[in-house]
Amino acid sequence: MCGIIGYTGREAALPLILGGLERLEYRGYDSAGVALIEDGKLVVEKKVGKIRELVKSLWGKPYKGKTGIGHTRWATHGEPSTENAHPHTDSKEEFAVVHNGIVENYLELKRELEGEGVHFRSGTDTEVIAHLIARSYRGDLLDAVLEVVGRLRGAFAFAVITAHEPNRIVGVKQGSPLVVGIGEGENFLASDIPAILPYTRKIVTLSDGEVADITPDGVNIYDFHGNPVTKEVMEVPWDIISAEKSGFKHFMLKEIYEQPKAVGDTVRGLVSSGERPPFSLKEFRRALIIACGTSYHAGLIGKFWMEKLTGVPTEVVYASEFRYADYPVGEEDLIVAISQSGETIDTKFAVNYAKDKGARTLSVVNVVGSSIDRESDFTFHTHAGPEIGVAATKTFTAQLAALYYLASLEHDEGEKLLSELMKVPAKIEEALEKSEGVEKLADKYMKKKDFLYLGRYLSFPIALEGALKLKEISYIHAEGYPAGEMKHGPIALIDENMPVVVIAPQDRVHDKTLANIEEVRTRKGIVIGVGFEGDDKVEKLSTEFVGIPSVEEDFTPFVSVVPLQLLAYHIASKLGLDVDQPRNLAKTVTVE
Ligand code: M6R
Repeated sequence: MCGIIGYTGREAALPLILGGLERLEYRGYDSAGVALIEDGKLVVEKKVGKIRELVKSLWGKPYKGKTGIGHTRWATHGEPSTENAHPHTDSKEEFAVVHNGIVENYLELKRELEGEGVHFRSGTDTEVIAHLIARSYRGDLLDAVLEVVGRLRGAFAFAVITAHEPNRIVGVKQGSPLVVGIGEGENFLASDIPAILPYTRKIVTLSDGEVADITPDGVNIYDFHGNPVTKEVMEVPWDIISAEKSGFKHFMLKEIYEQPKAVGDTVRGLVSSGERPPFSLKEFRRALIIACGTSYHAGLIGKFWMEKLTGVPTEVVYASEFRYADYPVGEEDLIVAISQSGETIDTKFAVNYAKDKGARTLSVVNVVGSSIDRESDFTFHTHAGPEIGVAATKTFTAQLAALYYLASLEHDEGEKLLSELMKVPAKIEEALEKSEGVEKLADKYMKKKDFLYLGRYLSFPIALEGALKLKEISYIHAEGYPAGEMKHGPIALIDENMPVVVIAPQDRVHDKTLANIEEVRTRKGIVIGVGFEGDDKVEKLSTEFVGIPSVEEDFTPFVSVVPLQLLAYHIASKLGLDVDQPRNLAKTVTVE
């Protein structure tokens, strides 16, 4: 995890770096720091807490240095503290390093350096990089970095500056993301594109095993052996305005309301370009969907569509479990990797593993140019725009749209199915309107300690997703369960204090779900029923009823997830919690 940024140019670096760090804060926010070259000397400022704490600590300090690096941290090695915050420096404080990822052999390197008399001030793996570079430095920062990268193992990206060469930053990418921003008389490095979008739209995405040597006047890329690499400069189409809150209290709420557009843009983007993978789905013995968190829940829904519309047997596997489980995978398999960020390390490693075994890889990714996007054989891009809230919302429904598109591509009535899919954004709009009463439910149930979410068939993954949303932003325990499985155990939890959210659209299992609601009522549970508007049966059986628009069975997840996202949002917001940056989490998880 962690976010890194670097600037070298003609302007004072500090405000640009702090602005970038705020946009990177979703990647981690337990401490932050900057290093600048001020009048030929290195200065480092760090603070525990969010970026605003660092900003406050810098008020009134007249830093004018034109080269600097910054970091926002999500602790892996070493607790959140000022000592462990980045940047880390060598013993003489001439080199400063910011780092994202893990140096797996840091203990061995640390012992080696300690044997030479180096004193370590932090418990991090990063500090070894600063000491190693200082040790290798013979007048050229790039040479020193190239000497050091060969010694490091793991997945990481880092940037380094030195007082000896005030207008230079060297950045390294190996497993963790790093992009270069090209400006006029100024250049940037960052963990992701939105961090530097206000300053430039010209981006070079580094690949693993590459080093960027950056000065105000140019950028040179090399491989780890020092051979020059030619890279394409891409022009980013996103508009930074879409990364502002536009009057909403939180990004998450704004993003929930952006779902009609996110789904509409995704469907239109795919349909108008007529995108198709360069292979037929039917040539595979099975499809393996690999993802984490919310993307995994999208995959569970995608499985039903894949099997129904293509007939290809489909399994869904947590990416973090995949490559350690001797999963039989080979040329006959299609891997479908789903990832908003395109940088989730578990998913990326799973893709690499499956590729090595000969499988073909197709990804569904929101961030263009991300690692998974580049490393897959084919990518469907979701056009959801940047998602800032840590809780995934609009990217989830956009992923659903892309998965439905994929499943319908080779269906005899594919065109008809897609024209039905085009109507979904309007239905999500309706679901948003109909969910206005959800805020009152949040008032009523926000003090509850546990929630149960139940659903069957396509609504089971929605139950999982509703529970995940509530857990991650409100810190209330919540469990998603297949409604029919409840009687095999969890029913014992139900009493008059337990809110049970039941997703019960009029689908093939409607009657069965009604019976499950009865079971909850019989045990005096509080039923929050989510059903098609006008569905008297669900309404009568529920303590609280939330109406959603009636849609074709296949499209029910698009509309039933909306009130669940809003319920979680309003509860967390009313509890006064940090909705967009919940504790212990980060938007992009780049550690295993
Ligand atoms: O970027 P990805 O889609 O690969 O991220 C996967 C999960 O980390 C992510 O969906 C996470 O579960 C969300 N924060 C949940 O809201």
